[in-house]
Amino acid sequence: MSIMLDSANPEDARRARELGFVEDVTTNPTLIAKTGRPPLELLSELVEIVPGHVFYQLTAPSVEARYDQAWEAHEIRPDKVILKIPATTENIAMAARLEQHGIECAITAIASPAQAYLAAQAEAAYAIPYVNRLTRTYGDGLAVVRQIAAILQGTETEILAASLKSVEEVVGAILAGAQHVTLPLELILALGEHEFSRRAIADFDASMHSAKP
Ligand code: E4P
Repeated sequence: MSIMLDSANPEDARRARELGFVEDVTTNPTLIAKTGRPPLELLSELVEIVPGHVFYQLTAPSVEARYDQAWEAHEIRPDKVILKIPATTENIAMAARLEQHGIECAITAIASPAQAYLAAQAEAAYAIPYVNRLTRTYGDGLAVVRQIAAILQGTETEILAASLKSVEEVVGAILAGAQHVTLPLELILALGEHEFSRRAIADFDASMHSAKP
């Protein structure tokens, strides 16, 4: 079970690494565009920052071009790059080809249990449902995660829940059966905070200061 950082910003990656419990980073084309950096140059930097994997999304316009792009990204750091491949039937077939070569793939932007089922048939390492986007579009992204968890039981494909926007949604995704979550830095930091704990700490501090030496 792991918490990953959802960002392409090297500074975020450094801060997340310092927390000591975040090892992997997921990027996507939007997050990479925000940095204004060439994608592969950024990928080369991120794999040096984090101890775990860096997820990198394929964007080329045809399946064959995406297949070539996959090898190009993989060769940057074969032990650390995981390819994010958007969920379509032809892309999942491409992921099956890559997995046969031992290249780890994550099927991303998953919206349905059927897509997750195909991802498992392709022996993809991860299925990535977009929880909040699904809730906004269809009403209940967590229900989709629950169905996917039931379908993937007993397979090697693990659920990495993405598009999570609140602490409650993160907890909901884990309860629904996600083995992993990927979150922006602010949400990772928010997980350890609670008003109740803050009050308890303040009470203990007050007792310490009022205690007689
Ligand atoms: C996951 O890997 C994606 O980067 C991300 O979570 C997509 O969803 P969002 O744009 O709604 O956050």
